[in-house]
Amino acid sequence: MLNTIIQGDCAELMTELQESSIDLTVTSPPYDKLRVYRGYSFPFEAIVQQLYRVTKPGGVVVWIVGDATVNGSETGTSFQQALYFKEIGFNLHDTMIFQKSNPIPQIYRQRYQNIFEYMFVFTKGKVKTHNPLKVDCLHAGLELKGTTYKNYSRGEQKRKKPAKPVKKQKIKGNIWEYVVGKRAEDQSAKGHPAPFPCALAKDHILSWSNEGDVILDPMCGSGTTCMVAHQLQRPYIGIEMSSEYCELARARIAGHRRESEH
Ligand SMILES: C[S@@+](CC[C@H](N)C(=O)[O-])C[C@H]1O[C@@H](n2cnc3c(N)ncnc32)[C@H](O)[C@@H]1O
Repeated sequence: MLNTIIQGDCAELMTELQESSIDLTVTSPPYDKLRVYRGYSFPFEAIVQQLYRVTKPGGVVVWIVGDATVNGSETGTSFQQALYFKEIGFNLHDTMIFQKSNPIPQIYRQRYQNIFEYMFVFTKGKVKTHNPLKVDCLHAGLELKGTTYKNYSRGEQKRKKPAKPVKKQKIKGNIWEYVVGKRAEDQSAKGHPAPFPCALAKDHILSWSNEGDVILDPMCGSGTTCMVAHQLQRPYIGIEMSSEYCELARARIAGHRRESEH
């Protein structure tokens, strides 16, 4: 199944994947029926159970999701989903935020504009790969006094003295901001109602996998995760219910192959 986009229901098709064969999944399910996809069906619990079975020990699942507002209240589906992942054995490793630089304008609803989605990072046991992305330190080069470390996870962190002077770079925070749908690299996804940015897939794939690791997207839509995995020399498996979106994903990956040959 490596390096293919397969059409069908991922809950069924994942049963054909070998146990403990996937290093990293980056995926985004349908959100609370916010959009109507062709051939909609979403057996959530079966999908998560299969994800647990196929993920290698130490492997990662990145689950990108937002909530609808129904009768004045956010559904909270994303939290319920995260708790189910924990219930069947995944660690909730990091609750990250996908912030949109250009959110779709909303009619005023006596609340603040919604500009983010969750990116839940689950691991099967202790995470085996983390290649942290870095950002520049605001105070690089300064001799700061009195810097302290906040210890959120007792027992996991070994305390080190703060660097003096302050280092040039530090590990990026867990709120990641992207422009949605406007970058040149994202234009080939047009035809799907909800692709995520290539840059988002790239940042997760670089963070949680190494070259040669197997990347899965069981609800791959326009194929963003698979295309970026291919660009980054990782074999991929894409599953998608709609034959139309499968064709779109295959065309995007083929387009990238042609570009890289020239
Ligand atoms: C939010 S979209 C994913 C978009 C994708 N990340 C991209 O960048 O294009 C969710 C996708 O899941 C697909 N889908 C829904 N239920 C499915 C199932 N049971 N098996 C496989 N795909 C499914 C939908 O057709 C839709 O394309």
